Amino acid sequence: MEILRTIPEVRAARQAARGSIGLVPTMGYVHAGHMALVQAACAENDRCWATIFVNALQFGSRQDFSTYPRDVSRDLTVFKDAGVAAVFVPEADAMYAGDHSTYVHVEGLTDRLEGASRPGHFRGVTTVVCKLFNLVQPHRAYFGRKDAQQLRVIQRMVRDLNLPTDVVPVATVREPDGLALSSRNVHLKSAERAAATSLYRALQAAQQRYAAGERDAGALRAAMQDVLAREPLVKVDYVSIADDETLGELAAVAGPALASLAAVVGSTRLIDAMELGA
Ligand code: PAJ
Repeated sequence: MEILRTIPEVRAARQAARGSIGLVPTMGYVHAGHMALVQAACAENDRCWATIFVNALQFGSRQDFSTYPRDVSRDLTVFKDAGVAAVFVPEADAMYAGDHSTYVHVEGLTDRLEGASRPGHFRGVTTVVCKLFNLVQPHRAYFGRKDAQQLRVIQRMVRDLNLPTDVVPVATVREPDGLALSSRNVHLKSAERAAATSLYRALQAAQQRYAAGERDAGALRAAMQDVLAREPLVKVDYVSIADDETLGELAAVAGPALASLAAVVGSTRLIDAMELGA
């Protein structure tokens, strides 16, 4: 497995690579959710490339950039064992010049949900992902459905900028009790870990109400709130029943819709999402 640390190293490796490349961008501290993306990328392409970069640009000033978990040497071992051909692990100054001043911004879709709670977050995500796509020029790139808004924002960027990469969504990998795998789960103390399952239970409650015929979006949101309200360690940021494509909040569910939520458990902010009817 090639380990690439600089822009010239990536460009040289890309020029030498033959066949199709499937890219898995990550911030590292890899878990089985990331590895589901890697497995899909390895299966559907001649080569799987991964990136590990904790992108300061997508963290707000008071958010958890400095405490974001990191273990690059373990990540590299796991990627190597999974058959990844190359990993790009840039230093921050390799990605952003001191006077970096160019950004990619997707309007509209990014002003709600995570975008409302984390101003500037998606501008950081789209800027770094666009740079990674330009450097690696992957045929396909793999993104998890857990980060449902991120997936849609990347799809919109690729469409609007005519980027020659297919964005491939991958199903959310969960713990046996339903908690979506996340690098941030490592921060949960044991009582918080138990309370965190309420995010999945809330989504399931909405899914069950929907399956039983409920189409009033307010009632579906209330079903999620009810589950979360029973957990004193959980502080709800938002619960949403939104149009699956625009992510605009719905009054009634008439077509494809996305149930999503964000909550702070202890001091750890977690998100999860589920497509309704899926
Ligand atoms: P990160 O949180 O490391 O996630 C990397 C990829 O793994 C994302 O596409 C995310 O949706 C996916 N992923 C995370 N948990 C998952 C789970 N439980 N099941 C399935 N997929 C999962 O998302 C980012 O990094 C960054 O914003 C990034 C795109 C790398 C840009 O910096």
